[in-house]
Amino acid sequence: MAERIARALSERGELVLLRRDDALELRVNGVFVMDTAHTATERALATATLRQVSGDGLRVLVGGLGLGFTLHEVLADPRVGEAVVAEIEPALVDWHRQGLLPDGAAALGDARVRLRVGDVADVLQVGAPFDVVLLDVDNGPGYLVYEDNAEIYRSGFLTRCRDRLAAGGVLAVWSASPAPQLREALRAVFGDCTELDIPVVLGSTETSYLLYLAERPHS
Ligand SMILES: C[S@@+](CC[C@H](N)C(=O)[O-])C[C@H]1O[C@@H](n2cnc3c(N)ncnc32)[C@H](O)[C@@H]1O
Repeated sequence: MAERIARALSERGELVLLRRDDALELRVNGVFVMDTAHTATERALATATLRQVSGDGLRVLVGGLGLGFTLHEVLADPRVGEAVVAEIEPALVDWHRQGLLPDGAAALGDARVRLRVGDVADVLQVGAPFDVVLLDVDNGPGYLVYEDNAEIYRSGFLTRCRDRLAAGGVLAVWSASPAPQLREALRAVFGDCTELDIPVVLGSTETSYLLYLAERPHS
């Protein structure tokens, strides 16, 4: 049985936070988005990508906030100087601030965090170049949470990401299933793309989630 912890409506529909057994679960319009029981790949999105980048005072874009696991790993890296967080659902930000999500309020209170409530496509354009751009706004290009996000996985937006990265900066995209079209689009835009296939055990089911990483070349 699941217990409803919070519910909100936005122009995109219904956002619900549930407690199921010991885990919290986020659903949008009835669709499972993520839970707090299986967060290894959300965390790896940050750690595997930051490992590819050198330097200090790194400027990182996290899109979206979700349950906050990617952001926690970003903030755990002392080389990160600024973490710009784009989250389209204001209610989710409120739930973090109200303490409904593990360590959410503390993370958003970190002096390095710049929270932007809005579309990551708009937030991408603001300020100095990014060293890292982390995209986890759907269940991947094959399983959109919001149809409007379809553009995020296409060449036009990926080119904008490349152009907003510093030389040597890395874009990473999370996906629940293999995304060959995304991989080829990243190869076309960046010249190369690394696909990381990470095994995940969901109850009695063994599957894997994927990360797609692409680096902006130095010249
Ligand atoms: C799968 S969750 C992110 C999970 C996150 N990586 C974590 O560790 O918890 C997706 C989040 O992206 C947000 N989102 C969806 N589309 C967005 C967009 N276009 N811009 C910004 N945030 C968006 C959703 O509201 C949701 O909070």
